[in-house]
Amino acid sequence: MDMILSLDTAEISEIEEAASWGVLGSVTTNPTLISKAGHANPEVAIKKISSIIDGPVSMECVSTDADGMYKEGLVYHSWAPNVLVKCPCTPAGLAATHRLSREGIKVNMTLIFSPNQAILSAKAGAWCCSPFAGRLDDISWDGLALVAEICEIFRVQEYTTKVLAASLRHPVHVMDAARVGADIATMPFKVFKMLVQHPLTDKGLEQFMADWQHLQEATAAK
Ligand code: E4P
Repeated sequence: MDMILSLDTAEISEIEEAASWGVLGSVTTNPTLISKAGHANPEVAIKKISSIIDGPVSMECVSTDADGMYKEGLVYHSWAPNVLVKCPCTPAGLAATHRLSREGIKVNMTLIFSPNQAILSAKAGAWCCSPFAGRLDDISWDGLALVAEICEIFRVQEYTTKVLAASLRHPVHVMDAARVGADIATMPFKVFKMLVQHPLTDKGLEQFMADWQHLQEATAAK
C-alpha cells in the first residue's frame, strides 16, 4: 500500500510547482476546475498535465447518456495513455464504465456518496471510485467514515477497484485517508502546501541558519 498524493486542480502552475517537489502522483480535474482555470481547449490542458505527471490524470465526461460518455471516453483516452475517464455514478455512467473498462480504458467513477454506489462502480469495472468526503462533511455527514467503509468493503470482497478519497478539504482529511487505506488522496493545492508546513520546522530552520551565519562571521573576524 502506497497512497498516491493527487492534486485536484487544472491550474498548470500549481501542478508544475507540486510536481517539482517529487511527491505528486496524480491530478484530478472536473468541469468546474477546467472552467475555473480558463482552459478554452481542454484537450490542450489535459495533454499538458499528462506530460507533467506520469500517474493518472482524470478528465470528466460531460455527456449524460451512456453512448455520449462512452464516445467521450474514447476521445479522452486517445489524448494520453495516463488519462482516466471520469464517469458519474448514474445508470448511464455505469453502462459507459462497463463498456470502456471492457475495452481496457481506465475509468474513475465519480460523485460517489454511498457504499452501494462504490460497490456498483467496482462491479462495472471502474479502475477507481471517488467518494467525495468534504461534500458529505458539508451536510453534517462523516465523509471519511464513508471512505473507510468503502476501503473495508473492497478489502473483504477483494475488489481490485481503487479508492480515491476526493473532495479533501484539510490536512487531517489526508492523514485520515492514509490511515483508513485509501489508494489515492486528491486535494486542492492549498491543502497540498499545508501538508509540508509546520511552525517548528520554520523556527528550527531559522535558528540553524542564524547560528551558521554567526559561525561564518565569527570565523571571518579571526
Ligand atoms: C474529485 O475528483 C473532485 O473533482 C473533487 O475532489 C471535488 O472536490 P470539491 O468538493 O472540493 O469540489
